[in-house]
Amino acid sequence: MHWLKQGNGQPNYFKHKKLTVVGSGNVGATAAFLAAQKELGDVVLLDVIDGIPQGKALDMYEAAPIQGYDVQVHGTQDYADTAHSDLVIITAGIARKPGMSRDALLATNVKIVADVTRKIMQYSPDCILLVVTNPLDAMVYTAKKVSGLSRERVIGMAGVLDSARMRTFIAEYLQVSIEDVSACVLGGHGDTMVPLPRYSTVSGIPITAMISAQDVQQICERTAQGGAEVVQLLKTGSAFYAPASAVVEMAEAILKDKKRILPCAVYLQGEYGIDGFYLGVPCKLGGAGMEGVMELDLNRAEQDAVAHSLAAVKSLIGEVDALLAKGEVE
Ligand code: NAI
Ligand code: 2OP
Repeated sequence: MHWLKQGNGQPNYFKHKKLTVVGSGNVGATAAFLAAQKELGDVVLLDVIDGIPQGKALDMYEAAPIQGYDVQVHGTQDYADTAHSDLVIITAGIARKPGMSRDALLATNVKIVADVTRKIMQYSPDCILLVVTNPLDAMVYTAKKVSGLSRERVIGMAGVLDSARMRTFIAEYLQVSIEDVSACVLGGHGDTMVPLPRYSTVSGIPITAMISAQDVQQICERTAQGGAEVVQLLKTGSAFYAPASAVVEMAEAILKDKKRILPCAVYLQGEYGIDGFYLGVPCKLGGAGMEGVMELDLNRAEQDAVAHSLAAVKSLIGEVDALLAKGEVE
C-alpha cells in the first residue's frame, strides 16, 4: 500500500495501483488524463519545469467529479513522490519539429532518458517502464541498459500507434467501422517501419483480398509517414492524442493483467533471428509486463524489410552505446 499527498496532504489509504508519467508535455499530460479517466491507478505527473505538472495535475484532479474517476492525480518535480510506482511511462524529452527526423533527437534525449531512468529506479526498483520518448527504439534500449531491468519490464510504445494509424487509413478507405479493422506493423519506429498487409484484416479477411496492391501500398506508405504528416500540420511539435492513447492501452493491459496481444518494441533474444536489439513485434502484455513474443511467419520480402529496419535501429544503438561509453550521459 502507498499513499501520496494531494491538496490537504492527508494520506490516501485506497489500495490503488500507482502510475507515474514523466514529462508533462503533450503526450505525458494527455496520457495522465486518459489513465485517470480509466481509473488505472493514482497518477503522479512529473516534469523538470516548475508548476506545469502541478498545475496540470490539479486541473485533472478537479475534473474528477465531472468525469467520475476516483483516483488521485498529483503533479511534482520530486522523484520521492513517485516511490513505489507499479508502472512508469517516460515521455520526457524533446519532440520533432517540421523537417526533423526522430533520429535527430537522439543526442539530447538519451541524456534525459538515462537521467530519468536512474531517478525512477532509485524509488521504484520493481516498476515496469513504458518508454515513449524518441527515437523510440534507441530510448527504450537506453532505459533497459541504465535500469538493469529484465526485458519483461522495459517496453517501448510505437507499434500500437503505428498500427492504429494503419487501421484508421484502412477503415477510411473501405468505409467500414474501425472496430472491425486490425493491422500489424513490425520493425523500428521510423521511416523503415514494416506495415504487414498480409496480417492486416477486416473481420478476419486480409486487406490484400479487398484492396488493390497499389492502394495497399499507398496505405502502407501513409502509415510509415503518419508521424511526419501530423508534424507538418502542427508545425510546433508532434502527435499526442493517438500516442497517449496507445501507451495508455499498453498500461491498461499490464495493470489489469489483460494478456493483450499488442505490437510493442521488445528486446529480442533470438526471436526473428535477432539478438540484443529492440524492435517492434507482436507480444503478450499482462501483469508481468512483456510476457511473450509472437513469432510471425514472414515471406522473403517481409524478412528483407525487417532486416532493413533493424539496420536503421542498429546504427542508432551504436550512437547510444558510444555516448554511454564516453560517459557523456551522466
Ligand atoms: P513535449 O515537448 O510536449 O513534452 C516533453 C516534456 O518533457 C516537456 O514538458 C519537458 O519539460 C519534459 N522534460 C524534458 N526533460 C525532462 C527531464 N529531464 N525530466 C522530466 N521531464 C523532462 O513533447 P511530447 O509531444 O510530449 O513528446 C515527448 C516525447 O515523446 C518526444 O521525444 C516525442 O518525439 C516522443 N513521441 C514518441 C512517440 C512514439 O510513438 N514513441 C509518439 C509521440 C511522441
Ligand atoms: C509519431 O509517430 C512523433 O513518433 C511520433 O507521431
